[in-house]
Amino acid sequence: MTRPVVVDIHTHVYPPTYMAMLRSRKTVPYIHDPSDNGTPRLIILSSDDDPAIPIDQRGRPVDSSYSDISVKLDFMRKHGIDCSVISLANPWLDFVLPSEASDWAKLINDDLNSTCAQVNKMADPENNLLLVEKASLFAFGALPLSAPAPDVVQEIFRIRGLSHLRGVIMGTSGLGSGLDDPNLDPIWAALEATQLLLFLHPHYGLPDEAFGGPETTARYGHVLPLALGFPLETTIAVTRMLLSGVFDRFPRMRVLLAHSGGTIPFLAGRIESCIMHERKFEENGGDTPGPKRSIWEVLQTNIYLDAVVYGQAGLKAAIESGSTDRLLFGTDHPFFPPLNDHDGQWMSVTTNFNAIYASLKDAPASAEAIVGDNAVRILNLEEK
Ligand code: URA
Ligand code: ZN
Repeated sequence: MTRPVVVDIHTHVYPPTYMAMLRSRKTVPYIHDPSDNGTPRLIILSSDDDPAIPIDQRGRPVDSSYSDISVKLDFMRKHGIDCSVISLANPWLDFVLPSEASDWAKLINDDLNSTCAQVNKMADPENNLLLVEKASLFAFGALPLSAPAPDVVQEIFRIRGLSHLRGVIMGTSGLGSGLDDPNLDPIWAALEATQLLLFLHPHYGLPDEAFGGPETTARYGHVLPLALGFPLETTIAVTRMLLSGVFDRFPRMRVLLAHSGGTIPFLAGRIESCIMHERKFEENGGDTPGPKRSIWEVLQTNIYLDAVVYGQAGLKAAIESGSTDRLLFGTDHPFFPPLNDHDGQWMSVTTNFNAIYASLKDAPASAEAIVGDNAVRILNLEEK
């Protein structure tokens, strides 16, 4: 396989089996098919399911771009993306009955793996089936997090054996009590042992009250939950991991943070300063164990950030907090499609490309690393 130049590590799918499961549900998350045969609606965030909104208008439209891999490949071609590392979109399997979670994880992960294998076979120039020009896929697997921890560990080791999976995607609720839950330790241990990359991604946001109540949240659509709720959710989750010593106990764990770490790069100094001044922590005279490794060390050894931040200010903070070697291009496809010009390039994609090239106009090799080479190295994206 030729070496991919542009790699998208933040790009989602809902496989058809998952879409069917959402269609069979009546509570969040679910898919509603309008009675007039209009575009189906995805009611995914709790704030979407507002009884004051007619059901045909709740949530957001969900078309074939969410589940049809040929639409993903068209999107890749349109934007010059050579390789995508696809992942199940939120809320993953968080809501699935514990007794069914492991079976769902196996189904989804096997499906992702065979989709990647099929597409890469088509892209292989030695294969006569040259249906796709220079596009390849890898994937992050889903975890059965509503099941007991040993089942999750078992799936992590199974994922390691799947040829096209390179990591796992996870939300911030962990086993239900957040990411500082000590019951997650066997899962962190399995991720550290396998060296699978943990892609940490938000879904739950903040309570409506943080934005002024449900009416205010609803008035502005998805802006408050997605622009602020998502990044703050990630920030809180990672800070809780740090405070509880996860990175002290698992110093080789590798974590990729969505949306350039939420606000972690911007707030890292403040987080570190608050830790240094917290009297509760043992090192400062208290009796609660505080984190042993500094946030700066964790940012430079454990954490990778995507470059999905839509502007130079955020991107420069991400570069400054880690390094250009730890940043990876992403699109968040199929979310944030253009509202009008459906044929042109997506603004959500070009904004991220532009931020990378403009921030690094004096260091083009670093820009290229972010756009693709880092992902190839960090995720070992050569076809075996
Ligand atoms: N909205 C979502 O629900 N998920 C994403 O990944 C991006 C936007
Ligand atoms: Zn995403």
